Amino acid sequence: MKIVVLRETLPNEARVALVPESVRKLAGLKAEVFVESGAGLQAGATDADYQNAGAEISDDRAALLSSADVLVVVNRPEPEDFRRMKQGAVVLGFLKPLDEPAALEPAAENRLTTFSMELVPRITRAQAMDALSSMATVAGYKAVIIAAAQIPRMFPLLMTAAGTVPPARVLILGAGVAGLQAIATARRLGAVVEAYDVRKAAGEQVRSLGANFLEVDLGGIKTEDAGGYAVELTEEAMQRGRDLIAERAKTADVIITTAQVPGRRAPLLLTEDAVNGMKRGAVVVDLAASTGGNVAVTRAGETIERGGVIIMAPLNLPGSVPVHASQLYSRNVTAFLTLLIKDGALHLDMNDDVVGPSCVTHDGKFVNQRVAAMVEQLASR
Ligand code: NAI
Repeated sequence: MKIVVLRETLPNEARVALVPESVRKLAGLKAEVFVESGAGLQAGATDADYQNAGAEISDDRAALLSSADVLVVVNRPEPEDFRRMKQGAVVLGFLKPLDEPAALEPAAENRLTTFSMELVPRITRAQAMDALSSMATVAGYKAVIIAAAQIPRMFPLLMTAAGTVPPARVLILGAGVAGLQAIATARRLGAVVEAYDVRKAAGEQVRSLGANFLEVDLGGIKTEDAGGYAVELTEEAMQRGRDLIAERAKTADVIITTAQVPGRRAPLLLTEDAVNGMKRGAVVVDLAASTGGNVAVTRAGETIERGGVIIMAPLNLPGSVPVHASQLYSRNVTAFLTLLIKDGALHLDMNDDVVGPSCVTHDGKFVNQRVAAMVEQLASR
């Protein structure tokens, strides 16, 4: 049983899929880990660290791909990487099945079994495998740090001999995993924080972190599904939220937006008018940029300025905290691998309530119904 870890090839990607700590753990599954030379360097792990943990190092990327029983990645491999792998091999990582379903066609054609960390169900049994939460935690933290470094003021209330410095005012839109971590980080730095979310349950969590929860009367409509995720709202309900946000934005020094609706475009929460109404020197960090952004003027991957307001839309904040992001991710994928590997052999139980729902392609087919429907729709266009 050969588990392979490659150097990630996307620009600005410093994470690695498995860290040495996990290599040791995987030995317990009677699996051997092969690592492409230099794969962990930016995440703080040298080739020697991997060797000490029991891994083998290789420079031959093509040979690693063609011999892998399991390829563990952070980002989806290139089509030619899928084609180089042997039939029946497993690929595990962030594969973007709902955003770019057609990109997994080469994996299906080559009869690879692909598992997407995005599709791991958020049930109690799979908590240790919840890589989306791990990365959202890192992103929420780092968003506050880059905003704090950018604003022309300090975060904490200071009482000095030269007088009082008022605390920064931070507004968080979307209080899921990333939003809650952003609240906690901003509070630790001493800011006054308020937050908005459509899910009522978020209110208690926001308040428990010492922030103010903005309540909007959404007319009693359903705002979340059975799984606890936000649903797409009516235009009227959206507008009520936007009006309140525009009002609160006027006094904010920092706005961090994190609102997402799974499988849909991110909701527009901060309009162009609202940005124009903000203070000079204020900073907006839009964490939903990869799914369209929560801010009307967002340009994904760029930092722009509007009337003295800076709008940042970083696409890979977890990649800018590679040591801890890799460590958390590595633990998540290792927990998942313990479901796939028994006694040194692949054991794929598609009836398992974590393994089955996470699988995208198997035996030459798209087995995830939602992804299959998307691929079919694309093909019929
Ligand atoms: P997400 O990344 O899909 O969305 C972020 C936040 O944006 C959510 O809180 C959502 O309610 C909010 N949002 C969506 N539309 C909005 C709008 N129009 N205006 C304002 N806010 C809006 O969600 P995330 O962070 O991945 O998780 C959200 C939920 O899932 C939470 O209830 C969380 O506690 C739960 N969860 C459960 C886990 C489990 O193991 N049971 C693990 C992780 C999350």
